[in-house]
Amino acid sequence: MRTTVGIIGAGPAGLLLARLLHNAGVDAVVLEGRDRSYVERRQRAGILEQGTTDVLRAAGAGERMDREGLRHDGIELRFAGRRHRVDFPALTGGRSVTVYAQTEVCKDLIALQLKEGGPLLFEAEALAVEGADTDRPRIRFRHEGAEEVLECDYVVGCDGFRGVSRQAVPASLSRVFERTYPFGWLGILADVPPSHDELVYARHDRGFALLSMRSTSVSRLYLQVPAGTDAGSWSDEEIWDELELRLETADDWVLRRGPITQKSVTPMRSFVHEPMRYGRLFLAGDAAHIVPPTGAKGLNLAVGDVVTLARALTHERRTGSADLLDAYSATCLRRVWQAERFSYDMTALLHRAPGATPFEDRLQLARLERLTASRAAETDLAEAYTGFPFG
Ligand code: FAD
Ligand code: DHB
Repeated sequence: MRTTVGIIGAGPAGLLLARLLHNAGVDAVVLEGRDRSYVERRQRAGILEQGTTDVLRAAGAGERMDREGLRHDGIELRFAGRRHRVDFPALTGGRSVTVYAQTEVCKDLIALQLKEGGPLLFEAEALAVEGADTDRPRIRFRHEGAEEVLECDYVVGCDGFRGVSRQAVPASLSRVFERTYPFGWLGILADVPPSHDELVYARHDRGFALLSMRSTSVSRLYLQVPAGTDAGSWSDEEIWDELELRLETADDWVLRRGPITQKSVTPMRSFVHEPMRYGRLFLAGDAAHIVPPTGAKGLNLAVGDVVTLARALTHERRTGSADLLDAYSATCLRRVWQAERFSYDMTALLHRAPGATPFEDRLQLARLERLTASRAAETDLAEAYTGFPFG
């Protein structure tokens, strides 16, 4: 098999890249290791920056998102029993975010790709990228029990943190910047209308809690838990009790409880692989970088990467100039590091590290106080949360 752009991975990065290339008339083949229903059900991110919704809409993938997505004009910060709303449009000249789950973004892009786009093969696991430093890079993959080769002009690794594409970059050229955290998030989905109409980020002495949603009838909530926690070790009642404690307010706000339909623990990590390109291999999304989820940046960063890459690949096809491809890694990394910084800061602001000292607790509270008292501090948060411009 032969194509212009071989894409490994049908997460948000690979699927959107395929759509953008299709719209620009550039051939691509997508190889996805898992089956369709697995990809469509994997619970992950829920918040789309305005730039992300603009891109999906322009790509012809925004119809259901515009119908079912929930526009959010702010978030609530909760600490010491107090509630403080951050008003995004007022602070950013009109920007907002949209609640629309990653599962739904993937479903929409998969349906479009299968209807209008080039080949998208499920249960096609890439084994290795070969010849990345030549004019004819190849992806070796396994599909329907047989080993096959996809010959490409370019290979794009959109295969997430645990994919194989990053391994094709020689160790001597790779630089990895990494931090792991001593906690993770226990996330639940519950069949109950959200207890607040916007997201609530809560700092509590018992640890962080987040109230989010998937729709007006489904709540998504998270609790900070020690790294390595088994989701099964928490009963449903224990989860609701703990959420209630951490989300408590001094006023009469109440947490609505309902049946928990899904429960899992996400580890937290910051990770950047530089460069994001080696020869004719490009890395995009989680294959190149991971952020802790506190700033809701992971999916949005993946979208930024593939927008930059689609533009560069299209430019090369149309003009023969590799200028934008040559700039890809540096262009993306500028935005990546801003998101790394913001996600780290939000994590540090809201989580209680094991062994945190009373001094550190007070500093955390002082930072939160500052956000409620200074428009400049609040604007900084609002600008970052609603999204940095694509490169
Ligand atoms: P992925 O979505 O990981 O997609 C990679 C795809 O490649 C997968 O479909 C995978 O099956 C496929 N693949 C892997 N290896 C191979 C191979 N060898 N051959 C073929 N295919 C392969 N972000 C938030 O903003 N908020 C959250 O709450 C949040 N929760 C998360 C929870 C978890 C458990 C994880 C892992 C991430 C979470 N994220 C969250 C981050 C966000 O979901 C990711 O940043 C986003 O999915 C990145 O998209 P991607 O396309 O780069 O990678
Ligand atoms: C969700 C996840 C996040 O990481 C976040 O910051 C906000 C919302 C969510 O899954 O809904």
